[in-house]
Amino acid sequence: MIEKIAAYGQYDVVFSSIDDFDLDFFLQKYYSSAQKIVLVDENTYKYCLDYLITSVPSLAQAEVIVVPAGESTKTMETAIQLWSTLLEYGISRNAVCINLGGGVITDLGGFVGALYKRGIDCIHLPTTLLAMVDASIGGKTGVDFEGVKNQIGVFYFPKLVLCDTAFLATLPEEQILSGYAEALKHGLINSRELWNKITTNSPKSINKQLLKEIVKVKNEVVLQDPLEKNLRKALNLGHTIGHAIESLFLEENPIPHGFAVAWGLVYEAKIATNVGELSIEEFNEIRSHIVKHYGEPNNLENHIEDLINWMKKDKKNDGEGINFSLLAAIGDVKINQIVAEEHIIEALLSAF
Ligand SMILES: NC(=O)c1ccc[n+]([C@@H]2O[C@H](COP(=O)([O-])OP(=O)(O)OC[C@H]3O[C@@H](n4cnc5c(N)ncnc54)[C@H](O)[C@@H]3O)[C@@H](O)[C@H]2O)c1
Repeated sequence: MIEKIAAYGQYDVVFSSIDDFDLDFFLQKYYSSAQKIVLVDENTYKYCLDYLITSVPSLAQAEVIVVPAGESTKTMETAIQLWSTLLEYGISRNAVCINLGGGVITDLGGFVGALYKRGIDCIHLPTTLLAMVDASIGGKTGVDFEGVKNQIGVFYFPKLVLCDTAFLATLPEEQILSGYAEALKHGLINSRELWNKITTNSPKSINKQLLKEIVKVKNEVVLQDPLEKNLRKALNLGHTIGHAIESLFLEENPIPHGFAVAWGLVYEAKIATNVGELSIEEFNEIRSHIVKHYGEPNNLENHIEDLINWMKKDKKNDGEGINFSLLAAIGDVKINQIVAEEHIIEALLSAF
């Protein structure tokens, strides 16, 4: 049976193999005469493209565009190069761009598609666990700018997200773990029951059914607050500090997004026990589960000032101070919590 969720922005998130869903039929039905582009990075070119093209004959003539793998590709410079390439190929406004990759490709491809000729249709085929549980859902697209994560972007909804877990077979274990962190975050903001379910599954054993439950959490939040005026900020749990950690290492020694988020979840849980309502028992539970999978971050105590400076650039801030989403309990998150620097520093020094 094909599992699917109707998402905000009038598209379906489908949990199925490409064959069972019959992507070829979908493309013939909606895009029979449209030019087709497939955006990949070096790794999805190598590991995922053949499977896609052999399963979908109507993509045999598609223009395949390859960009370097990794976060350093998610920039305005790459976006500009991609727009030039689309113009060079004579891509018109009724084209469809298929973004085959992880969160870097769905964020970048969605952004490029949103602005090219005021918007061409996009289909996301997430190939990492992180993109399946999070990045491909909810319409946020964008690029990093001047070394800061996601500073330039636009909400733009795809026409379809198809999560085919067969892609995960070639994904390195470190990347599976990276996606598992966003799944944990969805459990933490949603309910004790979902947190227990995710933590009793290993990162590798998240099946189609659980994947759907996790995606539902994000989708329900997005349905209520699509443009992140309020409630959607809950999805940033772990990300105020997580993005600062990721940004700190971005240029010299990038770390997977999910590792930064996992450690961010622990630091922010520590703030929540120090200045908020989270019990010390639940903090310990969160920390020990994360340390079990991600270990402890190395040497962050020597970068406190830099980390605080990165946090000051966080998109959620509105001039009043550093804005967090903080847990009151597992399954209960409070948004718009302004935390004084001294409490952030204290957590950075003592959480692990
Ligand atoms: N838009 C959103 O709502 C949202 C939410 C969360 C994260 N994000 C963004 O997502 C990005 C992180 O996504 P990611 O972790 O998927 O990173 P990624 O796209 O860089 O993929 C991680 C690595 O896995 C490789 N890869 C991808 N699929 C593969 C496969 N099937 N087999 C082998 N290798 C494969 C990639 O080439 C890359 O090297 C960040 O830029 C983050 O900011 C966006």
